[in-house]
Amino acid sequence: MGGGRRVRATLIGIHCGTLALLAATLLAALVAVDLVLGDELPGATHGGNDKWLEPARSRLMQARDALPFFPHRANTRGNVVLQPRDFESAEVCGACHTEIYRQWRSSMMSQAWDEPVYRALLKLASEATEGRVDTFCTGCHSPIGLTTGQITAELNRSSVEDSAREHPLPGVDCESCHNISARTGLDNGAYVMTPRAHGRSTKFGPRKDAVSPYHDTVYSALHTRSDFCATCHNVTHPFSSVAVERTYDEWLESPYSLNGETCQDCHMPGFAGRAAIMGPEREHVASHWFSGANATLLSYLGQDEAAQRARDMLARAARIEFQDLPDRVRPGEYVEVAVKVSNVGAGHKLPTGFPEGREIWIDLRVTDASGRQVYRLGAVKDGETEEGTRNFKVHLGDRDGNVLDIEVWKATQILSDNRILPKGYIVREFSFRVPADAVGPLTLHADLNYWPFSQKLADFLLGPNELQVEVTRMAQVSGRVALSVELARLP
Ligand code: HEC
Ligand code: HEC
Ligand code: HEC
Ligand code: HEC
Ligand code: HEC
Repeated sequence: MGGGRRVRATLIGIHCGTLALLAATLLAALVAVDLVLGDELPGATHGGNDKWLEPARSRLMQARDALPFFPHRANTRGNVVLQPRDFESAEVCGACHTEIYRQWRSSMMSQAWDEPVYRALLKLASEATEGRVDTFCTGCHSPIGLTTGQITAELNRSSVEDSAREHPLPGVDCESCHNISARTGLDNGAYVMTPRAHGRSTKFGPRKDAVSPYHDTVYSALHTRSDFCATCHNVTHPFSSVAVERTYDEWLESPYSLNGETCQDCHMPGFAGRAAIMGPEREHVASHWFSGANATLLSYLGQDEAAQRARDMLARAARIEFQDLPDRVRPGEYVEVAVKVSNVGAGHKLPTGFPEGREIWIDLRVTDASGRQVYRLGAVKDGETEEGTRNFKVHLGDRDGNVLDIEVWKATQILSDNRILPKGYIVREFSFRVPADAVGPLTLHADLNYWPFSQKLADFLLGPNELQVEVTRMAQVSGRVALSVELARLP
C-alpha cells in the first residue's frame, strides 16, 4: 500500500494536459495497486489512515475507464457489465439457508431498494441532478441493479409499486454481499462483484470448511472484517468529496477497532445452529438480523419484531444522567442543570449514518409538586425538534453556508457535527427560571430520544399522514430538587 501512496503523490505533481496519457496509465495501475483481495491477511489495511487520502480518492474516481459505473466505485473482473442470470434471488438461497434468510428478510438492507423513503429522495436527487447520481445511489441500494446495468433514470424515478411490478430489483441481498470478492477502496461502493469464478457460481464467505452441493465456496477474510462494510457505510459526495456518511471511519478511529471488535461482532452476533439445512450443526453461525436503529421504517414495513430489535439496540447504545444537580434552589431564581449523555454501546458516532435525518436529543421536563410544568425543552413542534433543543446531529451545508435538510447533492461542506464519539460523552446545559410560586420539590425528567428523520421530512418526502415517525426513547433519568422557601423570603 505504501508504494501506492507514493505513486499518487507523484500524480498530483504532474497534473497537466500533456501528461494526461501517462496519468491515465498510472491511474489504471493505481486501481490494481489498491485492489485488496478477498483472502488478504486480517489487519493488513487497518493501520493505513486512508481517510486522509480523500483528494487522491476522488482523483481516482476520474479514471472513468476503470470505473464502469461512474460515479459509483463498484467494479467487476474485466470491468464488464454482468448479466441478470449471473445472480439468483434470495428465495433460492433461502431454500437451504432457511434461518439466515428469515433473519435477513426482516432487515432494512433487504428493503434498501424497495423502501419508500429511499425512493422518494432518489427521485428528487435524480431529477435535481439530471441523472448524474442515478448509478451512484443505486450502486449501494441495489448493487445487482447497478452491476447488471438495469438502472435507468426512469426506473429510479418510478414509484415503489410500479417498479416492483414492472421491473423488480433486489436491495442488498445474499448475492450482493456473497459475490463480493475484493474491494478497491473504502467508500462509495468500492466492491468487486464476482458472481462466477471458473464459470461456476461462487460464494465468498467466512469459512474455510464450508462445502455446498449447490455452489462453490471461497474463504474470504474480507467478510470477517469491518472494511467489508466500509464499501457502503462510508459515503463520499461524488462531485464535491464531502464526507456524507462515515460510519466505517468513525469505527476505525474508535477503541472498538483497536480492540478488534468489528461491525459483525455487534450487528451479526453468532447463534448456535445450522448455516444451511444440510450443513453441520455449528456453535457460532453469523446471524443476519443486521439490527440498527430504524424502528420507524421497520414497523411501517410490517417488520414489528425487527423494529423491536432496533429499539433494543438503541436502548443499549446510550446512558443519560444529571451532573451535579443542586440539592435545593430558590423560587424566582435561575437554575443551571447539566445533563451528560454517553455513547456506551455504539461502535461509531451516536447517531451515525444518513445525515439528513438521524437525530438524537434530550427532552427535559421540570414539574413542581402540584404537577404544574415549569419548564420544558426538547418537545416536537410542527414535526421538528423545537428551537434550541439540545440535540446531537450533523449538518451539511451548501456553498453559501445554508443548512441542507434534503438537497444533500448540493453539499460542499459540513457546517457542524456534535454527535457523540464511541465511548465518549457530551454534557449539555439547561437554564430556566423557577417560578416564584412554585411548590417544592421540583421533579426533573430527561428522556434521550432518537428518530431516523423528522416527521417534517417524512411528510415532505411521502406526503402528509403517510408515515408516522416514531420517537424512540433510548434512555431516561429523573431527579429531585428541593425549594428553599425560607431563603426565598429573605429580602
Ligand atoms: C442446495 C442448498 C443450498 C443452496 C440453494 C444455497 N446454498 Fe449456500 N451453502 C449450502 C451449504 C450446505 C453450505 C455449507 C454450510 C456449512 O458448512 O455450515 C453453504 C455455504 C454457503 C456460504 C458460506 C461460504 C463460506 O465459505 O463461508 C455462503 C456465503 C453461501 N452458502 C451463500 C449462498 C447463496 C448466496 C445462495 C443463493 C444464491 C446459496 N448459498 C444457496 C447450501 C446451499
Ligand atoms: C452493498 C452495500 C452495503 C454493504 C456491503 C453493507 N451495507 Fe449495510 N446498508 C446498506 C444500505 C444501502 C442501507 C440502508 C438501507 C435503507 O434504509 O434504505 C444499509 C443499512 C444498514 C443498517 C441499518 C439498519 C437500521 O435498521 O437502521 C445496518 C445496521 C447495516 N446496514 C449494517 C451493515 C453491516 C454490519 C455491514 C457489513 C457486514 C453492511 N451493513 C454492509 C448497504 C450496505
Ligand atoms: C450486507 C451483507 C450481507 C448480506 C446481505 C448477506 N450476508 Fe451472509 N454474511 C455476510 C458476512 C459479512 C458474513 C460473515 C460474518 C462473520 O464472519 O462474522 C456472512 C456469513 C454468511 C454465511 C456463513 C455463516 C456461518 O457463520 O457459517 C452464510 C451461509 C451466509 N452468510 C449466507 C447468506 C444468505 C443466504 C443471505 C441472504 C438471505 C446472506 N448471507 C445475506 C454478509 C452478508
Ligand atoms: C460495539 C458495538 C457496535 C459496533 C462495533 C458497530 N455498531 Fe453499528 N450500531 C450499534 C448500536 C448499539 C446501534 C444502535 C444505536 C445507533 O443508532 O448508533 C448501531 C447502529 C448502527 C446503524 C444504524 C444507525 C442509524 O441511526 O441509522 C448502522 C448503519 C450501523 N450501526 C452500522 C455499523 C457499521 C457499518 C459498523 C462497523 C464499521 C458498526 N455499525 C459497528 C453497535 C455497534
Ligand atoms: C456508498 C453507498 C451509498 C450511496 C452511494 C448512497 N447511499 Fe443511501 N444509504 C447508504 C447507507 C449505508 C445507509 C444507511 C445509513 C443509516 O442507517 O443511517 C443509507 C441510507 C439512506 C437513506 C435513509 C433511508 C431510511 O429509511 O431512513 C436514504 C433516504 C438514502 N440513503 C438515499 C440515498 C440517495 C438519494 C442516494 C444518492 C444521492 C444515496 N442514498 C446514495 C449507502 C449509500
